[in-house]
Amino acid sequence: MGAALGAGEALGVLGARRGGSGATEMATVGELLNLGTGRLRAAGSESPRLDAELLLGWAIRADRTALVAHSEAPVGADATAAYEEAVSRREAGEPVAYIRGLKEFYGLAFAVDARALIPRPETELLVAEAERDVAWRLTSAPRPAGTPKVRVVDVGTGSGAIAIALATLLRRRRMLPEVSILTVDCAADALSLARENAVAHAVADEVVFAEADLVPPSEPPFDLILANLPYIPSGEIERLPVAASFEPRTALDGGPAGLDVIRRLLAALPDALAPQGTALLEIGFDQGAAVERAVGELPAAWTCRIRADLSGRPRLAVVERARA
Ligand SMILES: C[S@@+](CC[C@H](N)C(=O)[O-])C[C@H]1O[C@@H](n2cnc3c(N)ncnc32)[C@H](O)[C@@H]1O
Repeated sequence: MGAALGAGEALGVLGARRGGSGATEMATVGELLNLGTGRLRAAGSESPRLDAELLLGWAIRADRTALVAHSEAPVGADATAAYEEAVSRREAGEPVAYIRGLKEFYGLAFAVDARALIPRPETELLVAEAERDVAWRLTSAPRPAGTPKVRVVDVGTGSGAIAIALATLLRRRRMLPEVSILTVDCAADALSLARENAVAHAVADEVVFAEADLVPPSEPPFDLILANLPYIPSGEIERLPVAASFEPRTALDGGPAGLDVIRRLLAALPDALAPQGTALLEIGFDQGAAVERAVGELPAAWTCRIRADLSGRPRLAVVERARA
């Protein structure tokens, strides 16, 4: 390889350059990372180096550790071209996860594309609470033969991240046979992605999919309702980072105050939730008080506890019937 690229050196494509003989040389990993980082920084990315590493790693099918360890390695023409296209898409604001077609959630790799919201790290709290709740239901009292399965529904499943992560955790604990999991979304596109992810994680036989508005009325009540429904106020959507404009609006838009869909689900709880059931609802970090008020306005008596995430921000509403 020749020396590292100097400032102002002419580039044909992102990484290929002309050597002294006129032959095209291959750029190294380190050179491509520096070039991509510079372009993404100029385009306004908040994490240009990380983006460049993820995109180059995807293009050459290597993890980030390998990129650091082999910064002098030359990159072939096809991979350089794929990286070039990926950097251009990222410059236009497309999320890295959509470009790679992949997002890690709860230690699992999920396929992601414009059919559904990219699962967010803050939603892992909901999965952890759901696992704890199911385990408690299965272990806190004897379960003689014939005891019905614990019924769980993931409302607004999107990529299927919540339901599939939960199913995977329960399978590891050998609890999955005692649990039924329904996933619901009003968007057929999202459901098709969720099905693909369930197949990829080998839980497609354990998870049932339904296209419906919130909880299908034909379903018997659930022990556990999980929901990460849209909760962004409509007026704030245009102010979100440009990456969000690539995600489906139905996954984000919660109406004027952000709580339209969550309020409708709260109103459905008396029929949808079993007497000892629990609803775990992800909420915006500034919506705790509003959700508590919304629960207080329900006709019957319900309790609402707000749980904070690891950074102390309110993230989860735990809603149950008030005990007499
Ligand atoms: C914020 S995304 C969450 C996706 C996924 N659960 C996650 O956590 O990554 C909300 C999802 O709810 C779905 N949704 C919105 N309104 C709905 C409704 N009334 N009934 C069912 N699903 C709905 C959207 O299509 C979208 O997939």
